[in-house]
Amino acid sequence: MAEIGLFEAMYSARALRRLKPDPIPEELINKLLDAAIRAPSGGNAQNWIFIVVREAAQRQRLGAIYRKASDEVAEIYAARGRPAHMTEAQYKRLMDGGSHLWDHLGDAPVLLVPCLRKRDMPAIDALPPQVAARYDVHLAYQQRIFGASIYPAIQNIILTCRALGLGTTITTNHILYEAEVRLALGFPDDVFSFALMPIGFPLDQPGPLSRRPVADVTFSERWGQAWPAGIGP
Ligand SMILES: Cc1cc2nc3c(=O)[nH]c(=O)nc-3n(C[C@H](O)[C@H](O)[C@H](O)COP(=O)(O)O)c2cc1C
Repeated sequence: MAEIGLFEAMYSARALRRLKPDPIPEELINKLLDAAIRAPSGGNAQNWIFIVVREAAQRQRLGAIYRKASDEVAEIYAARGRPAHMTEAQYKRLMDGGSHLWDHLGDAPVLLVPCLRKRDMPAIDALPPQVAARYDVHLAYQQRIFGASIYPAIQNIILTCRALGLGTTITTNHILYEAEVRLALGFPDDVFSFALMPIGFPLDQPGPLSRRPVADVTFSERWGQAWPAGIGP
């Protein structure tokens, strides 16, 4: 198939949650993984592991966990209500697509689970005193940026799916039942999952994406100071 441009991919890679059950050729799965590992990671640690789940029983098991977690998340969404920037139609599309996935995640031919292996911190007494004195800040910092070493890879997977004519979306609800996911996938203690991505050939069309305008989400130099209108693509 013809390659699409980077901007076309970025501007049209919307969440595609209705997927055909047809299997995905292994060559395409390998392309997704090969694109994923081109992403940046903190300290270039590349401490990622990707679990490709194709066995039906395993997919259904993860699908059931996702369903259980999503039932709870649905209540949070309902209590929170529609975000102000979304129209009724946009919100309905999100909710309809989301609830379809609650019932069908396990039917996607591939579930991809991007994970990270936790990196050890050096012992406090191996550090100079001025850094050791702020060890707790460093621990909190490591905790805060942990997922930042896998989410760029996940975006590469999303864009590559778009380029290859596959559909996917990032989902995270399963993390509410992480212990069950760990058991299902047999994780060692230092490995954590960050997403559960259903992948398949899509029933719906990609793009265009609807987003809040740049002027609404950008400040110039400091908080509250408008970014000049008219700058941008
Ligand atoms: C951190 C994160 C977690 C998400 N978790 C879920 C999820 O559990 N289930 C789901 O259906 N979509 C999930 N999404 C997808 C969002 O709903 C989607 O990106 C957003 O609605 C924009 O959709 P669009 O690109 O089709 O416009 C998640 C997205 C992000 C970035």
